[in-house]
Amino acid sequence: MRTKLAAGNWKMNGLSAGLDQLSEMETAASGAAEVLICPPATLVASAASRDGSIAIGGQDCHAAASGAHTGDISAEMLADAGATYVILGHSERRTDHDEHDDEVRAKCKAAWEAGLKVVLCVGESEAQRDAQNTLDIIGGQLAGSIPDGATGHNLVVAYEPIWAIGTGKVPTTDQIGEVHDFMRARLEKRFGEGVGRSVRLLYGGSVKPGNATEIFAVSNVDGALVGGASLKASDFVPIIEALN
Ligand code: G3P
Repeated sequence: MRTKLAAGNWKMNGLSAGLDQLSEMETAASGAAEVLICPPATLVASAASRDGSIAIGGQDCHAAASGAHTGDISAEMLADAGATYVILGHSERRTDHDEHDDEVRAKCKAAWEAGLKVVLCVGESEAQRDAQNTLDIIGGQLAGSIPDGATGHNLVVAYEPIWAIGTGKVPTTDQIGEVHDFMRARLEKRFGEGVGRSVRLLYGGSVKPGNATEIFAVSNVDGALVGGASLKASDFVPIIEALN
């Protein structure tokens, strides 16, 4: 059985006062689903030092263990600050920082070496979906971004169609199911049935309290990676509860 996961990606949002929201999420976080919040790097240590059952993650890490990389953060630094997860390969990193699969794969290896679990993001653009290339794009990103050595413990994959992020547009449940079933099959083929079946698959892109239940009922959806609706407990708690 895969433990459901409600993950929040705060992106470049949040000051220390915003950590009060974590306390408000805590009651819902003591249910069956695991809850993860990935705040900006400046808040990782203080978020992780709180008592409670919410896991804390970073939003990116460098592929190197240390060195002359001004402004970057290593996986070991995230772990040292108390993070247990890191998001890698988010489309905003791929676009804003020109990250490609080979770099994401190297970061993933570094994260695993530091003992972090990885939430690896994949997703197609609207033009790629319109051209009916979605499964090719997703298959390529899975093959290129995930190193050998994946397990159900160290890897979570998040399907985030770029056109659904922050737009209020959501794929149909059939479209989500098609991609998630495809990802499950690809993971089983590459890593074997046992591992492939144990990796959790999240959907991300305009998940809200009003659509979470319907999305969570889709085959091979094990939870969500939520952006905007994870910033406030009043939005995120109902999403967690839809998984509990
Ligand atoms: O990583 C989460 C994300 O990209 C989805 O953002 O705001 O559409 O929930 P949002």
